[in-house]
Formats: sequence, C-alpha cells, structure tokens
Amino acid sequence: MSGFAPVVGVFDSGVGGLSVWRALRGALPHARLSYLADNAWAPYGERPAEALRERLLTLVRDWRAREPLNLLVLACNTATAVGIDALRAEHRELPIVGIEPAIRPALAASRSGRVGVVATRATLNSARYQALRAACLARAPGGATVHERAADGLAAAIERGDGAAAEALCRSHLQALLDEAPAIDTLVLGCTHYPLVLGSWRAASGAQPLTLIDPAQAVARRALGLLSGAAASGLALKNEPIWHCTGHAEALSRATRQWLGMPADVRPLQS
Ligand code: SIN
Repeated sequence: MSGFAPVVGVFDSGVGGLSVWRALRGALPHARLSYLADNAWAPYGERPAEALRERLLTLVRDWRAREPLNLLVLACNTATAVGIDALRAEHRELPIVGIEPAIRPALAASRSGRVGVVATRATLNSARYQALRAACLARAPGGATVHERAADGLAAAIERGDGAAAEALCRSHLQALLDEAPAIDTLVLGCTHYPLVLGSWRAASGAQPLTLIDPAQAVARRALGLLSGAAASGLALKNEPIWHCTGHAEALSRATRQWLGMPADVRPLQS
C-alpha cells in the first residue's frame, strides 16, 4: 500500500464542511482530502428536499467521473438528512459517512435532561431527523426532552463571512430556545457551519454556560474506521488537499484562509 493516498471526498453546501475538514485532517493525515463546496446553491437549509437530493446525485456523479474517491464524507447535515440514502443506493461500492445532530451524546452529557438542537429547517423537517430524535428519546431517561430551533439565516451569514450578523443570529436563536426551555444545559450544533462561530455561541450563552456538541470528531473517527487500516496509515506520495466549488472560487479560498489559516487553489466543478 506504500505510495497510496486514499482520496476522501468532503462535501458541503459551502464553507461549513471546513469544520469537519479540520477534524478529518487530524484523523487522516495521509489521506488526500478533496473538498467540494456547492456554493452556487448555498445555503441548502431552506431549499426543497427533492431539488437538493437531485442536485447532490448529479454533483457526486460529476465529481467521481473526475476523481477516484475512496470514501465520501457528507460534511453537511442538510445533505445527509435529505440525500444520503439516495446516494448510498446509487454508489453501493463507495463508503459514505454522513453527519447528523448528535442528540444521543447530548442527552448523555446533559444534567438537566433538557437538550437544545439548532439546525437548518430542512434538517429538522426531514424524516431522518425525526426518526433519530425518536430513537434517542426512547433510550433516554424518562422526562428527557429535546427542543429544536431552525436557525434561519445563520448559515447564510457564515457563508458571507459576516461575523456581526452571525453573532446576532446566534443570540436571537439561542434566546428563543431558552425562552421555551430555560433548563437547557446542552446545545447540539446540528449544522456544520455553526461550529465555525463557536465563540459567538459561547458569547450568546452568557451567564448560562452550555455544553456545545459538535459531531465533527465522531465523523472523523468513523471515516478512519472505514478506510482500511493499511490505506489509512499508508505512506502517501501526494496528499495535498484538492478544492472544488460550483460558484465563486474566491469565496471558498477566502474561507480556507479565515477558518483553516491556509490558501486554497480552488477549481470549478460545473454541474
Ligand atoms: C446550509 O447550507 O444551509 C447548511 C448546511 C448544513 O446543514 O450543514
């Protein structure tokens, strides 16, 4: 396996997947990460599920025609919620890891038994999310509750790099959740954009310290487990990252400088 660098595709609607990219880089240092931002369509969270599913299928077909992906990570909660089943059905031989709101770890961490979930409207409305929520609550101690808030506008503000708007939205969305359930002590960040503004969530929680749950590390561990041990630890000849987007390349390279501290040579992937 020496000289073989497995190619791991990392998909997001835009820049949010960079929070997962960071965790993958740490867990899979010898893999070649190929990132695709569908920033011509971002944000995904308020678009119809059927259109998103078709879009995702088309993009992944085009991407695979260009690059031999060994593993695909959907670093986008909305894409996972609406499209992972269809993708798995079409690409049966390709291992695909999705990302879902980490309700179970949040319920385990909560002392009050009151957990908040912030995510996009599309994620919260999906059958996949509803099933996950029901399964987690069925196993939780009696009386535990989960309270959701669709953080409309937040992913878009983060895409624009508008820190002031993002901070104001974190405050207003969190306040709405706490008005509904003041005993919430654990908050699930159910969209990969949201961990990029962790400081804003901390500031918004003010005097009420919250445990913030970001599943990126769990996704990275799962990805590591799925790549064969030899491939994951093999000596890569070439593992510098690859960057694609469907919209403005400059927006993605600005974001890699801002969130990862590195430049990116972004190539267009048309669809
Ligand atoms: C969005 O594009 O609206 C957010 C993507 C996500 O759910 O992670």
